Amino acid sequence: MHDIIQQLEAKRARARLGGGEKRIAAQHAKGKLTARERIDLLLDEGTFEEWDMFVEHRSHDFGMDQNRPPGDGVVTGYGMINGRLVFVFSQDFTVFGGALSEAHAEKICKIMDQAMKVGAPVIGLNDSGGARIQEGVASLGGYAEVFQRNVTASGVVPQISLIMGPCAGGAVYSPAMTDFIFMVKDSSYMFVTGPEVVKTVTHEEVSAEDLGGALAHTTKSGVADLAFENDVDALAMLRRFFNYLPLNNREKAPSRPSDDPADRIDLSLDTLVPDNPNKPYDIKELITKTVDDGDFFELQPEHAKNIVIGFGRMDSKVVGIVANQPLVLAGCLDIKSSIKAARFVRFCDAFNIPVVTFVDVPGFMPGTAQEYGGIIKHGAKLLYAFAECTVPKITVITRKAYGGAYDVMSSKHLRGDVNLAWPNAEIAVMGAKGAVEIIFRDEKGDPAKLAAREAEYKAKFANPFIASARGYVDDVIQPHETRRRICRSLVMLASKKIDDPWRKHGNIPL
Ligand code: HXC
Repeated sequence: MHDIIQQLEAKRARARLGGGEKRIAAQHAKGKLTARERIDLLLDEGTFEEWDMFVEHRSHDFGMDQNRPPGDGVVTGYGMINGRLVFVFSQDFTVFGGALSEAHAEKICKIMDQAMKVGAPVIGLNDSGGARIQEGVASLGGYAEVFQRNVTASGVVPQISLIMGPCAGGAVYSPAMTDFIFMVKDSSYMFVTGPEVVKTVTHEEVSAEDLGGALAHTTKSGVADLAFENDVDALAMLRRFFNYLPLNNREKAPSRPSDDPADRIDLSLDTLVPDNPNKPYDIKELITKTVDDGDFFELQPEHAKNIVIGFGRMDSKVVGIVANQPLVLAGCLDIKSSIKAARFVRFCDAFNIPVVTFVDVPGFMPGTAQEYGGIIKHGAKLLYAFAECTVPKITVITRKAYGGAYDVMSSKHLRGDVNLAWPNAEIAVMGAKGAVEIIFRDEKGDPAKLAAREAEYKAKFANPFIASARGYVDDVIQPHETRRRICRSLVMLASKKIDDPWRKHGNIPL
C-alpha cells in the first residue's frame, strides 16, 4: 500500500510540473504565472479540488505518442471564491502552448457540464495557441463542444474569461461567448489570426500588441471589459468582481452589508448639473455619490466612453448601472455605446440584477459614419434590451432626454418601473433651437422672431413637467435625494415579477 501511495504522489508531482521546469522558468521569465499558481491565487486557500489530472491526449501523429504530459495542458476543477462555489479551467502554456486537444476539450466540457448541473459560474483562465494543430479535426471538434456549452450555459450560469497569454483561433471564440472578458496588459493577446497570417493574407505589418493586445481590445474593439497590470492584479480583481455576480440565473447576487445609510442625502448633487445646458459634467460623480460607499466597479471604461456601465450596490444589493456621459460626445448614443450598454443590460436581466439608468442624452449621433455603420440596427439593440428586460428598472433623468434616445433609455413606455427626473430635466422631441428651425422654417430670416420662438419652446418643453403630467415620469425629485429614492424603489421592487407571452426566443437585431 505504501508503495502505491508513493507512486500516486510521484504521478501527481509529475502532473504538477506540466511542460517541465524549463518551460515553467520561461513562463515566469515572461512575467506570467503557471496555470496552477493562477488557480491558487484565484481561489480561497486550500479549496481547489482538481479533476482529471491524469488525462492524456490520444494523438499518435507527428511524434505526439512520445509526449503525453499528464493533464494535457489544462488544469480543471472547482473551488471557492470568498466562500462561494466556482468551476475553473486554467490552460497551461508550458504544455504545447496550452493548445486544445480533444482530451483537453473534454476536461473543460466536463466541468462546464457539472457547473450547469449544480448552478455555479465558470471561470476560464485562457493561455492557449488555439486548436492543437497536430490533432486536426479532433481538436476542432473539441472546440466546437466547448462553444456549444458556452452557448447552453449563457444566461444560466455566469461565465468569465481571463486572457492571460497569447490566445488565437478557438481560444478567443470561446471567451467571446462568455459574459465578461478581462485581459492582462503586455502579456495577453487575442486574435483570430496572428500577425504572421495577417502579413501573408493582407500584407499588413502589425505587432501582436497592436493587433490584439489589451489596449486594442479595451479601447478600439470593445472585445475586452478591462485590462489589468499583471497576473496577480488580474486575479485579485477577478475575486472582487465575482462578488457582484449571482451563482446562477435562479439566485440573486450576494448582498454586502454597508454602513452607508440608504437614506443618505448628498447636497453637492444639487449643483452637479451646470446652469448652461451645453456645459458637460461628469456623470461618474453622480454614480459614486449614489452607490454604497462610493464603490463602483466600472466595465469598459476606455471604450465608448459616452456611456458608462458597471456594478455597484445600493442598500447592500447589487445593481447594474447604465449612464450617459455628458463629458464625451455630449452623451450622445452611437453604435459602440448602444452595443456596450445593450449587452450589459441583457446580462443584468439574465441574472436578476436590477438596472439603474441615469439619463442625460441629447439624442442619437447623426452622420454618414453612423448611418452606414448601421446605427439603426445597433441603436435598436439597446432599445430591444431595455424593452425585454424584466428585472426592476429605475430611471433618473438628470438633464436631457431627447428624441428616440428618451424612449430608448429605460423610459416608462419600455416597462420602466420607477422613472424620476431632476427639476432641470428637459424631456422633448429635440432641443429648442433645432425644433424651431424646423417648425418655424419660414421665420428663418427674422432672428428676433426665431429667438422668441426658441424661448417659447424652451419654456414649454425644456422641463420635466409635461412628461410628469402624463405620468411618464413618476416624480420630479431633488438631486440630493436621488440615492434615497432609488433605495426605496429597490425595496418596493424586490418581489417584481413579469410574465411575457410564451415564445422560443426573441430576435434581437444583431
Ligand atoms: C500545437 C502549439 C500551438 C497549437 C503553439 N504551440 N500553438 N502547438 N498547436 N495551436 C506550441 C508551439 O509549437 C511551441 O512549442 C509552444 O506551443 C509555444 O509556442 P511559441 O510559438 O514558441 O510561443 P509564442 O512565441 O509565445 O507564440 C504563441 C502563439 C503562437 C502566438 C500562440 O504559438 C501561434 O501563433 N500559434 C498558432 C496559433 C494558431 O494558428 N492556432 C490554431 C488556430 S485555429 P515548442 O515545442 O516549439 O516550444 C483554431 C480553430 C478553432 O483554433 C475554431 C475557431 C472558430
